[in-house]
Amino acid sequence: MRVVVIGGTGHVGTYLVPRLVEAGHEVICISRNQREPYQPHGAWGQVEVVEIDRKEAEEQGAFGQQIADLEPDVVIDMICFTLDSARQLVNALHGKIQHFLHCGTIWVHGPSVVVPTTEEQPRRPFGDYGIQKAAIEAYLLREARLNGFPATILHPGHIVGPGWVPVNPAGHLNTEVWGKLARGEALALPNLGMETLHHVHADDVAQSFFQAMANRSAAIGESFHAVSPAAVTLRGFAEAMADWFGEPARLQFLPWETWCDSVTKEDAQTTWDHIAHSPNCSTHKAQRLIDYHPRYSSLQAVQEAVNWLIANGAVQI
Ligand SMILES: NC(=O)c1ccc[n+]([C@@H]2O[C@H](COP(=O)([O-])OP(=O)(O)OC[C@H]3O[C@@H](n4cnc5c(N)ncnc54)[C@H](OP(=O)(O)O)[C@@H]3O)[C@@H](O)[C@H]2O)c1
Repeated sequence: MRVVVIGGTGHVGTYLVPRLVEAGHEVICISRNQREPYQPHGAWGQVEVVEIDRKEAEEQGAFGQQIADLEPDVVIDMICFTLDSARQLVNALHGKIQHFLHCGTIWVHGPSVVVPTTEEQPRRPFGDYGIQKAAIEAYLLREARLNGFPATILHPGHIVGPGWVPVNPAGHLNTEVWGKLARGEALALPNLGMETLHHVHADDVAQSFFQAMANRSAAIGESFHAVSPAAVTLRGFAEAMADWFGEPARLQFLPWETWCDSVTKEDAQTTWDHIAHSPNCSTHKAQRLIDYHPRYSSLQAVQEAVNWLIANGAVQI
């Protein structure tokens, strides 16, 4: 297959592109060519890199046609955030490709009702990002089911891997939380620490795209969660990580407003975004239909990322 990956040098592309090359696909990666993948891999030597700034190309109404001109069999869109953006691509690719895979997010779900949340549950997104992604999902599924556009949507959880900062047990990205847990220092968590996070290793997200491609007929017209086998509570996550560092977890639990005063405004906002969603998503449908079997638990994925942070001096233990 000739596979175009739009935004293929990021968290997921770092793992997905080598997988595709190793499987014998011809891979073309679209990016602004501003960054390198997180991990080196010999497969990148066989990848054609096409430099396009999607935002600029879309403003000129040229992006969809530029992708169609590459004559792909499969298009994997990692960086679509608005309905207009999705429409431009679908209009240009209709009837010309065998499979279209879009990267969504588990934030198409709003607050959970019955957990683990399945893909079938009604969408109740909030926040611009989740609302836009849910609108794109609804549009692509409709195009698939009514007009035969071969779309599949993969919804990752909080993507984790060596090279960037994972969401921590306080629900934000400040690396000082890891330092506190590693040194056995007190760590304050909001509320009772029972809200949830649902991580996924970037290589498992790559696996979900790869498996959807390999199980095309079952995947078209469907969306799938790409998450670890199970979500974690903030409290359980903090305790497990302290244990991993070999220190007792010295946790304090503070009411939301009081807790907000103990962190920066930015960290409080990030935590709110995570715990207001408190995702807990099922992998059952992806297991059943596309044979998705995540290799990493949430804790294993985070531990690999934290080991990288420690090795690179980003966490003082
Ligand atoms: N991060 C998470 O935890 C998370 C969770 C759920 C869902 N998601 C979804 O994951 C997707 C992002 O995947 P990712 O995390 O693997 O990507 P990423 O790490 O953010 O990398 C983005 C990729 O897109 C390229 N890019 C960025 N802006 C571009 C532009 N204007 N034109 C062309 N290329 C551009 C980047 O390369 P250059 O910079 O060189 O152009 C890079 O290859 C999004 O759809 C997001 O909604 C992410």
